[in-house]
Order: sequence, then structure tokens, then C-alpha cells
Amino acid sequence: MKRFNRKFVGAAWLCAVATALVFMLVTVITPSWAQKPADIDAALKAAHAKYKDLKEGANADYIPALAKVDSKIFGIAVVTVDGKVYTVGDIQSEVSIQSISKVFTMAKVMEESGPQAIADNMGVDATGQVFNSIVAIEQYKGSEMNAMVNPGAITATSMVKGASRDEIWNKILAWYGEFAGRPLTVNQEVFKSEADTNQRNQALSMLMYAYGHIKENPLQACDIYTEQCSVNVNAKDLAMMAATLANGGKNPVTGKQVMKAENVAEVLAVMATAGLYDDTGKWLFTTGLPAKSGVGGGIIAVSPGKFGIAAISPPLDAAGNSVRAQKAIADISNALGGNPYESKPR
Ligand code: DON
Repeated sequence: MKRFNRKFVGAAWLCAVATALVFMLVTVITPSWAQKPADIDAALKAAHAKYKDLKEGANADYIPALAKVDSKIFGIAVVTVDGKVYTVGDIQSEVSIQSISKVFTMAKVMEESGPQAIADNMGVDATGQVFNSIVAIEQYKGSEMNAMVNPGAITATSMVKGASRDEIWNKILAWYGEFAGRPLTVNQEVFKSEADTNQRNQALSMLMYAYGHIKENPLQACDIYTEQCSVNVNAKDLAMMAATLANGGKNPVTGKQVMKAENVAEVLAVMATAGLYDDTGKWLFTTGLPAKSGVGGGIIAVSPGKFGIAAISPPLDAAGNSVRAQKAIADISNALGGNPYESKPR
């Protein structure tokens, strides 16, 4: 009887240790956020179907080439931090990245000079003004704004290190390509169209130079900024760029650590503060996601540790944000539990 008891206790112990081991393994291997592929696909399809016929908004036309872009383009992509790609709609068509580029140039400056260089130079506060506001510069002489609005963004471009325009430009373009996981190219028509009509941005650059935020070559900074805004991207490229931020700066498909993981939080904080300009508060209230829009019609949003999401649809609202992209991203992220402020799914 005693012998039987000892055997029984031994077997029970073994069972308990094995169960604990299996439990530990499962917790380590399974991410805390796991959505079934079918659910992600369904969320994308539902949002695309819901908004594809929505006719609100209009293409940007202050850059003449943007007025000609097909307003019907509507593509959505999600890339998870484990490298799975989900798409719906038109993901072949490319549009110019426009202001979404500001995120990645700012990230480059943080990489080279540290996040504090951004906070110290143009600031990390919302302006409450439109993205090309002169009043926003005048209010604090070019401080206490952010790198998501044009004057702060052109200043960020001026801070990228390099001995010549070519060196700076090639570095920026290659950097964007690492986030996207493929080499990107410039839409020359959009670049020329904006370069011919960007007198207001030139004025913003000169003012930032006058107040000492841009140290030299303000018009070169403006020109490189204009070129960075003209880089062509599709919805999958944008989602991959967002997913690289969601994944601590490591591209989840190429596996390359593109930027230092320790700077990602500061990049996301600036996006959360000012990514959709004077409508950023409304956006954050709806989704909780750091995001960035561009007048080409793209929007990216980042659910840290979960996924990057992007949508492209050229018609914009009055603040310069794509109407359909905002709605689609909000629906999908909320369906997938993407809001980082929510401790329990809806
Ligand atoms: O500088 C400009 O006006 C454009 N290249 C970019 C503006 C922009 O994308 C604003 N975004 N919503």
C-alpha cells in the first residue's frame, strides 16, 4: 500500500510539472494578442464593402497633380507583427506618400541625433492649426510645434545629416524602403507639380530659418522635403511601414531591425499628438491609435505589438485626411481589438 502511494504521488508530481511546463511554453509562444486570420480577413472585407461607395470629400488640388489622381482608388492592408499580410481592394495603385513621410524622416533624425533633438528644436506639441499654418510658427517663434506639420517637418528634413543634397536624399529614400521592405521610387510628375507650386512651404522654411530652427540651406530642405512627399507607395507598403513601428522598429517580413527599438515610443507619441493635424483628438478618441495622414490619400496607424494598418483613398475632408481611410481603419482596428488604451475587447 505504501509503495502504491509513493508511486501515485510521484506520478502526480510528474503530471503537475509537465502541465506547468506546457503552460509556460504556450504563454511564451502564443502572443497575448492573437486574431484568427479569417477574422482579420472578414474585418477588412466588411470595411471595404461598407465604404467603397462613399462619395464624401475631394482630392487635394493645391498640388495640381493630386487633383488628377483617380478618386476611386480604395485599398486597405494590415500587416501583423508576426509578418502576416492581409489586403483588400486596390493595393496595386500607388499614390504619393505626402505627409506620411514626415514620420519616417523624423525617425531618421531621432536615429542620428536622439529623440531629444526633435523635442528641443521644433517641439512635440499640437498646434491646433492647419498643417501649413504661418500663425503656428509665429505663436512661439517656431518652437512648441511638432514634426508632423509642414514647418516642423521641413526642419526635421534639414536635420538629416549628409555632406550633399544627394547624400541626404539617398539616405532618406533608402530608409523609407527599409520600412516598406522594398526599394521605393519618386513620382516625378507629383514632385515637379509640387516644386512648381510650393511657395508657401518655401515661406515656412525661410521663417524657420529666420527663427534659427533650420541652420542652413532652408530652400534645399524644402526641396528635399518636397521630393520625400512625392515617393510612391501602395497600401501594402504603408501597412508594412506601420507594422515596422508596431514591431519595435523591426520589419516583420524582412526581419531587419530598421530603427532603434528605444526610439519607437517617441515616434508614436508625436504621431498620437499631431498625426491627423487639428483632428488628431477626434481620431485618438475613436481609435486610440497613433496615426499619420497624407494629402495623397493614405493613412497609416499603429497598434503597438499587434499590427500596422493602412488605407488609401484620395478624397479628403477639410482637415486634409482621407475620408474613407479614416473610417475603414477605425472600424477594422476596433473590430480587432487594436486600441492600446482598451484593457478588454469591446
Ligand atoms: O507640403 C505639403 O503641403 C504636402 N507635400 C504634404 C501635406 C500633407 O500631406 C498634409 N496631410 N494630410
